[in-house]
Amino acid sequence: MKISVIGCGYLGAVHAASMAELGHEVVGIDVNPHRIDSLQRSIAPFHEPGFDALLLKNSSRLTFTTEMSAAADATVHFVAVGTPQSADGSADMTYVNSAIEGLLLYLSDGDLVVGKSTVPVGTAERLSEQVQPTGAVLMWNPEFLREGFAVEDTLSPDRLVYGVPAGDDGDSATAILDEVYSEIIAKGTPRLVMNFATAELVKVAANSFLATKISFINAMAEIADVTGANVTQLADAIGYDTRIGRRFLNAGIGFGGGCLPKDIRGFVARAEELGVGDALSFLKDVDDINVRRRTRVAEILTEELGNLAGKTIVVWGISFKPDSDDIRDSPALDIAESLARAGATVVSADPEGWKPAQARIEQSGLSDSLTTTADHRVAVAGADALVVATEWKVFQGENAETIGELMSGNLVVDGRNCLDAESWKAAGFRYRGMGRA
Ligand code: UDX
Repeated sequence: MKISVIGCGYLGAVHAASMAELGHEVVGIDVNPHRIDSLQRSIAPFHEPGFDALLLKNSSRLTFTTEMSAAADATVHFVAVGTPQSADGSADMTYVNSAIEGLLLYLSDGDLVVGKSTVPVGTAERLSEQVQPTGAVLMWNPEFLREGFAVEDTLSPDRLVYGVPAGDDGDSATAILDEVYSEIIAKGTPRLVMNFATAELVKVAANSFLATKISFINAMAEIADVTGANVTQLADAIGYDTRIGRRFLNAGIGFGGGCLPKDIRGFVARAEELGVGDALSFLKDVDDINVRRRTRVAEILTEELGNLAGKTIVVWGISFKPDSDDIRDSPALDIAESLARAGATVVSADPEGWKPAQARIEQSGLSDSLTTTADHRVAVAGADALVVATEWKVFQGENAETIGELMSGNLVVDGRNCLDAESWKAAGFRYRGMGRA
């Protein structure tokens, strides 16, 4: 099948290459010429395990261009552009709207437009009316990919969600997308067909639930801090209850990235527009708990070191999660910047995130007090304190004694509760975790 993918960011680029992996002829379209140039040369424009290999393997079936007219040859058009957060917290629909407007010129009777972007409920209904006069049908097929597992999540998803219009159009849309995903469906992947509003809500509901789970355990960490309890043991104990489950119960400096924070804010904004803001008022608490986590590290450092001005602090981790170079709304980078603003000399180390962080640090005017490196061992030389802010495996596996010898001070703040506390204490460190005494 001939497929176009509009928007070649994390979601779209991985989706395009994955559709080629399924045997389809794919053109990826994006307004950013640098990104297109890189993808056209089979070079991933961001760090995502397995993605370079996928691009290269499928290069004969994959083209990338900035020209929307290239969509004219395709029958199925995936819309995978970003919906960033607007100043008022709502989702900014500029890119979705312009992608659809641009695409309208090239749609023909029988084509299928498949929305993948995370959008406010009600969007698909509106866009469907715009698409209808071309003879094409629109459906919504939200993605649930996690960065670091993007290829796996696209080719072996937990489930497929189809939001379709009522009647024959819905049936034909379902049949076409079933053909596109036939290999995935043949593996037994559950496929749920529903109306537009439900499909749109599934995505934001899933992310809200995950965010709530993380903020719940971080609220328990706050309680643990004043009671002497250990939040990791608490999570283990409640997690054995299969109704609760242990995943997404890791307390620490909280969630970040391009999805969870903006999706819960966008959901709250949309509920308020619809007059049901009260239903989601708890998500404001979820957000507040999460934001508080980012100040907790500076509090602990101040408790231990006093005034941070003039101190040298190393932060291991810049990206919002391991195996990613994504620094969007990253708790790690946020913390490094706030420590630099408090007068500390900060060195941030991250195997991948250090590159994209450079430009942002220059923009924030902090480059005199905040530097980045890929080498986390070099970074610790002469430091008063070490903060672990992203749980890369390379940090977790580090030898505490070796690090202790390189540092001036002996304080480690484990912002992700990911270190073996006993071995760091045995190496002479004062160990402070998040909600674990
Ligand atoms: C998320 C959803 O998981 C995915 O299904 C959706 O499609 C996009 O948004 P992603 O943004 O890649 O994916 O990150 P995720 O793995 O969900 O982690 C989000 C944040 O939560 C990270 O900053 C992570 O460090 C943090 N987190 C996660 C915790 O603080 N504790 C946990 O227990 C789990």
